[in-house]
Amino acid sequence: MSIIKKLKTRRTYKVIGDLRAPVSRSSLDKTSADVLLNASANAPFHYTCDRSHKSGLSSSVPWRVHKLQAGDCNKLKDFLIASGDMTKVPNMLSAAEFLFQVTWLPDEDTIINRDAGKNEQAFMGTLRNMEHIAAASAFIQSLLLVAEEKKFMTYWSSGGVLKSAQVFEVLDIPLNQLLLGSIFLFSKDIEHAEVKQGAMKDARGEVDDWSKWCEIS
Ligand SMILES: Cc1cc2nc3c(=O)[nH]c(=O)nc-3n(C[C@H](O)[C@H](O)[C@H](O)COP(=O)(O)O)c2cc1C
Repeated sequence: MSIIKKLKTRRTYKVIGDLRAPVSRSSLDKTSADVLLNASANAPFHYTCDRSHKSGLSSSVPWRVHKLQAGDCNKLKDFLIASGDMTKVPNMLSAAEFLFQVTWLPDEDTIINRDAGKNEQAFMGTLRNMEHIAAASAFIQSLLLVAEEKKFMTYWSSGGVLKSAQVFEVLDIPLNQLLLGSIFLFSKDIEHAEVKQGAMKDARGEVDDWSKWCEIS
Protein backbone atom coordinates (compact mmCIF):
# COMPACT_ATOMS: atom_id res chain seq x y z
CA MET A 1 0.00 0.00 0.00
CA SER A 2 1.34 3.46 -0.81
CA ILE A 3 2.18 5.72 2.08
CA ILE A 4 -0.58 8.13 1.00
CA LYS A 5 -3.18 5.37 1.14
CA LYS A 6 -1.82 4.14 4.46
CA LEU A 7 -2.08 7.61 5.98
CA LYS A 8 -5.62 8.04 4.66
CA THR A 9 -6.87 4.70 5.92
CA ARG A 10 -5.29 4.64 9.40
CA ARG A 11 -8.08 4.79 11.98
CA THR A 12 -8.54 4.48 15.72
CA TYR A 13 -10.23 1.33 16.98
CA LYS A 14 -11.03 0.99 20.68
CA VAL A 15 -11.65 -2.65 21.43
CA ILE A 16 -13.72 -3.12 24.57
CA GLY A 17 -13.40 -6.71 25.72
CA ASP A 18 -16.07 -8.51 27.73
CA LEU A 19 -14.58 -9.25 31.15
CA ARG A 20 -16.95 -12.18 31.59
CA ALA A 21 -15.83 -13.81 28.35
CA PRO A 22 -12.05 -13.71 28.27
CA VAL A 23 -10.67 -13.96 24.75
CA SER A 24 -7.76 -16.14 23.86
CA ARG A 25 -5.00 -14.05 22.40
CA SER A 26 -2.27 -15.20 20.13
CA SER A 27 0.58 -14.53 22.58
CA LEU A 28 2.57 -12.67 19.98
CA ASP A 29 6.21 -12.63 20.82
CA LYS A 30 8.31 -9.74 21.99
CA THR A 31 10.42 -9.72 18.84
CA SER A 32 7.43 -8.96 16.62
CA ALA A 33 6.65 -5.91 18.77
CA ASP A 34 10.27 -4.75 18.83
CA VAL A 35 10.34 -4.83 15.02
CA LEU A 36 7.52 -2.26 14.97
CA LEU A 37 9.11 -0.11 17.65
CA ASN A 38 12.51 -0.20 16.02
CA ALA A 39 11.08 1.01 12.71
CA SER A 40 9.10 3.76 14.47
CA ALA A 41 12.21 5.04 16.22
CA ASN A 42 13.33 6.47 12.87
CA ALA A 43 10.98 9.38 13.62
CA PRO A 44 12.74 12.75 13.52
CA PHE A 45 13.93 14.33 16.78
CA HIS A 46 15.63 17.68 17.34
CA TYR A 47 17.08 17.70 20.85
CA THR A 48 18.61 14.93 22.88
CA CYS A 49 16.87 14.19 26.14
CA ASP A 50 18.21 15.57 29.38
CA ARG A 51 21.06 13.61 30.96
CA SER A 52 18.86 12.91 33.97
CA HIS A 53 16.79 10.51 31.84
CA LYS A 54 19.73 8.40 30.73
CA SER A 55 20.47 6.64 33.98
CA GLY A 56 17.96 3.86 33.24
CA LEU A 57 17.40 3.41 29.51
CA SER A 58 20.36 5.22 28.00
CA SER A 59 19.15 6.49 24.59
CA SER A 60 19.25 10.17 23.65
CA VAL A 61 15.77 10.12 22.11
CA PRO A 62 13.19 12.19 24.03
CA TRP A 63 10.76 9.30 24.49
CA ARG A 64 10.66 5.98 26.32
CA VAL A 65 8.41 2.95 25.86
CA HIS A 66 7.27 0.57 28.61
CA LYS A 67 5.98 -2.56 26.91
CA LEU A 68 3.38 -5.12 28.00
CA GLN A 69 2.45 -8.36 26.26
CA ALA A 70 -1.06 -9.80 26.55
CA GLY A 71 -0.26 -11.73 29.75
CA ASP A 72 0.93 -8.60 31.54
CA CYS A 73 -2.01 -6.62 30.14
CA ASN A 74 -4.17 -9.19 31.94
CA LYS A 75 -2.24 -8.79 35.20
CA LEU A 76 -2.58 -4.99 34.96
CA LYS A 77 -6.32 -5.44 34.30
CA ASP A 78 -6.62 -7.57 37.46
CA PHE A 79 -4.67 -4.97 39.45
CA LEU A 80 -6.96 -2.16 38.26
CA ILE A 81 -10.13 -4.12 38.99
CA ALA A 82 -8.82 -4.95 42.47
CA SER A 83 -8.13 -1.22 42.98
CA GLY A 84 -11.78 -0.46 42.19
CA ASP A 85 -11.32 0.93 38.67
CA MET A 86 -14.71 1.26 36.96
CA THR A 87 -13.57 2.57 33.57
CA LYS A 88 -13.28 0.71 30.28
CA VAL A 89 -9.49 0.46 30.60
CA PRO A 90 -9.62 -3.06 32.14
CA ASN A 91 -11.88 -4.15 29.27
CA MET A 92 -9.37 -2.86 26.73
CA LEU A 93 -6.49 -4.50 28.57
CA SER A 94 -8.41 -7.78 28.47
CA ALA A 95 -8.47 -7.55 24.67
CA ALA A 96 -5.04 -6.09 23.91
CA GLU A 97 -2.18 -7.98 22.30
CA PHE A 98 0.23 -5.29 23.42
CA LEU A 99 0.14 -2.09 25.45
CA PHE A 100 2.92 0.45 24.97
CA GLN A 101 3.15 3.16 27.58
CA VAL A 102 4.91 5.91 25.62
CA THR A 103 6.36 8.72 27.70
CA TRP A 104 8.16 11.91 26.72
CA LEU A 105 11.08 13.27 28.66
CA PRO A 106 10.84 16.82 29.97
CA ASP A 107 14.05 18.73 30.60
CA GLU A 108 15.34 18.66 34.16
CA ASP A 109 13.82 21.36 36.39
CA THR A 110 10.85 21.93 34.09
CA ILE A 111 8.45 19.60 35.92
CA ILE A 112 6.07 21.54 38.14
CA ASN A 113 4.68 19.93 41.30
CA ARG A 114 7.20 17.11 41.14
CA ASP A 115 6.36 16.07 44.68
CA ALA A 116 2.61 16.41 44.37
CA GLY A 117 2.09 12.98 42.85
CA LYS A 118 1.71 11.98 39.26
CA ASN A 119 -1.88 13.14 38.87
CA GLU A 120 -1.02 16.75 39.71
CA GLN A 121 2.12 17.10 37.66
CA ALA A 122 2.54 19.75 35.01
CA PHE A 123 5.53 20.96 33.05
CA MET A 124 6.94 24.25 31.80
CA GLY A 125 6.07 25.06 28.22
CA THR A 126 9.61 25.66 27.04
CA LEU A 127 10.39 25.43 23.34
CA ARG A 128 12.66 22.45 23.99
CA ASN A 129 9.86 20.62 25.82
CA MET A 130 7.53 21.41 22.91
CA GLU A 131 10.00 19.79 20.54
CA HIS A 132 10.46 16.76 22.80
CA ILE A 133 6.69 16.22 22.68
CA ALA A 134 6.67 16.76 18.92
CA ALA A 135 9.36 14.11 18.41
CA ALA A 136 7.63 11.61 20.70
CA SER A 137 4.37 12.23 18.83
CA ALA A 138 6.08 11.55 15.51
CA PHE A 139 7.31 8.29 17.02
CA ILE A 140 3.77 7.33 18.06
CA GLN A 141 2.24 8.16 14.68
CA SER A 142 4.91 5.99 13.02
CA LEU A 143 4.07 3.19 15.44
CA LEU A 144 0.36 3.39 14.60
CA LEU A 145 1.15 3.14 10.90
CA VAL A 146 3.54 0.19 11.11
CA ALA A 147 1.20 -1.61 13.49
CA GLU A 148 -1.68 -1.16 11.04
CA GLU A 149 0.53 -2.50 8.28
CA LYS A 150 1.01 -5.61 10.42
CA LYS A 151 -2.81 -5.94 10.64
CA PHE A 152 -3.32 -4.66 14.17
CA MET A 153 -6.11 -2.34 15.19
CA THR A 154 -4.58 0.52 17.14
CA TYR A 155 -5.74 3.00 19.76
CA TRP A 156 -3.81 6.05 21.04
CA SER A 157 -5.28 6.84 24.45
CA SER A 158 -4.34 9.71 26.77
CA GLY A 159 -4.17 6.98 29.37
CA GLY A 160 -6.75 7.86 32.03
CA VAL A 161 -5.91 5.59 34.96
CA LEU A 162 -2.83 4.37 33.08
CA LYS A 163 -1.31 7.81 33.86
CA SER A 164 -1.76 7.36 37.58
CA ALA A 165 1.03 7.12 40.13
CA GLN A 166 -0.05 3.56 41.07
CA VAL A 167 0.25 2.33 37.48
CA PHE A 168 3.61 4.08 37.06
CA GLU A 169 4.77 2.32 40.20
CA VAL A 170 3.53 -1.11 39.11
CA LEU A 171 5.24 -0.72 35.73
CA ASP A 172 8.35 0.84 37.24
CA ILE A 173 8.11 3.98 35.09
CA PRO A 174 10.26 6.81 36.48
CA LEU A 175 8.21 9.71 37.81
CA ASN A 176 10.19 12.26 35.79
CA GLN A 177 8.67 10.83 32.60
CA LEU A 178 5.26 12.07 31.43
CA LEU A 179 2.79 9.81 29.65
CA LEU A 180 2.09 10.94 26.09
CA GLY A 181 0.03 7.95 25.08
CA SER A 182 -1.08 4.50 26.08
CA ILE A 183 -0.92 2.73 22.76
CA PHE A 184 -3.09 -0.38 22.48
CA LEU A 185 -2.59 -2.96 19.74
CA PHE A 186 -5.47 -5.35 19.15
CA SER A 187 -5.78 -8.33 16.84
CA LYS A 188 -8.33 -8.00 14.03
CA ASP A 189 -9.57 -11.53 14.77
CA ILE A 190 -10.80 -10.74 18.26
CA GLU A 191 -14.16 -12.12 19.40
CA HIS A 192 -16.58 -11.09 22.18
CA ALA A 193 -15.63 -7.44 21.97
CA GLU A 194 -17.25 -4.15 21.07
CA VAL A 195 -15.22 -2.01 18.68
CA LYS A 196 -15.58 1.77 18.78
CA GLN A 197 -14.07 4.29 16.41
CA GLY A 198 -12.61 7.71 17.24
CA ALA A 199 -15.13 10.48 17.88
CA MET A 200 -13.20 12.95 15.70
CA LYS A 201 -12.63 10.73 12.70
CA ASP A 202 -14.81 12.85 10.38
CA ALA A 203 -13.99 16.24 11.93
CA ARG A 204 -10.88 17.16 9.95
CA GLY A 205 -12.39 19.01 7.02
CA GLU A 206 -10.54 19.37 3.75
CA VAL A 207 -7.07 20.72 3.09
CA ASP A 208 -8.42 24.25 2.45
CA ASP A 209 -10.11 24.22 5.87
CA TRP A 210 -6.78 24.08 7.74
CA SER A 211 -4.13 25.30 5.29
CA LYS A 212 -3.58 28.28 3.04
CA TRP A 213 -0.90 29.18 0.52
CA CYS A 214 1.22 32.20 1.34
CA GLU A 215 1.78 34.23 -1.81
CA ILE A 216 4.13 37.14 -1.28
CA SER A 217 3.59 40.18 -3.49
C1 LIG B 1 -2.75 12.80 21.99
C2 LIG B 1 -3.96 11.96 21.70
C3 LIG B 1 -4.70 11.45 22.74
C4 LIG B 1 -5.84 10.69 22.51
N1 LIG B 1 -6.56 10.23 23.56
C5 LIG B 1 -7.73 9.62 23.35
C6 LIG B 1 -8.51 9.21 24.45
O1 LIG B 1 -8.10 9.34 25.61
N2 LIG B 1 -9.72 8.65 24.19
C7 LIG B 1 -10.18 8.47 22.90
O2 LIG B 1 -11.29 7.98 22.72
N3 LIG B 1 -9.41 8.79 21.84
C8 LIG B 1 -8.21 9.37 22.02
N4 LIG B 1 -7.42 9.70 20.97
C9 LIG B 1 -7.80 9.24 19.60
C10 LIG B 1 -8.76 10.20 18.95
O3 LIG B 1 -10.04 10.06 19.51
C11 LIG B 1 -8.83 9.88 17.45
O4 LIG B 1 -7.57 10.02 16.86
C12 LIG B 1 -9.82 10.82 16.76
O5 LIG B 1 -11.12 10.57 17.18
C13 LIG B 1 -9.77 10.69 15.24
O6 LIG B 1 -10.07 9.37 14.86
P1 LIG B 1 -9.08 8.57 13.90
O7 LIG B 1 -7.78 8.40 14.64
O8 LIG B 1 -9.76 7.27 13.64
O9 LIG B 1 -8.89 9.38 12.66
C14 LIG B 1 -6.25 10.43 21.17
C15 LIG B 1 -5.49 10.93 20.11
C16 LIG B 1 -4.35 11.67 20.37
C17 LIG B 1 -3.54 12.21 19.20
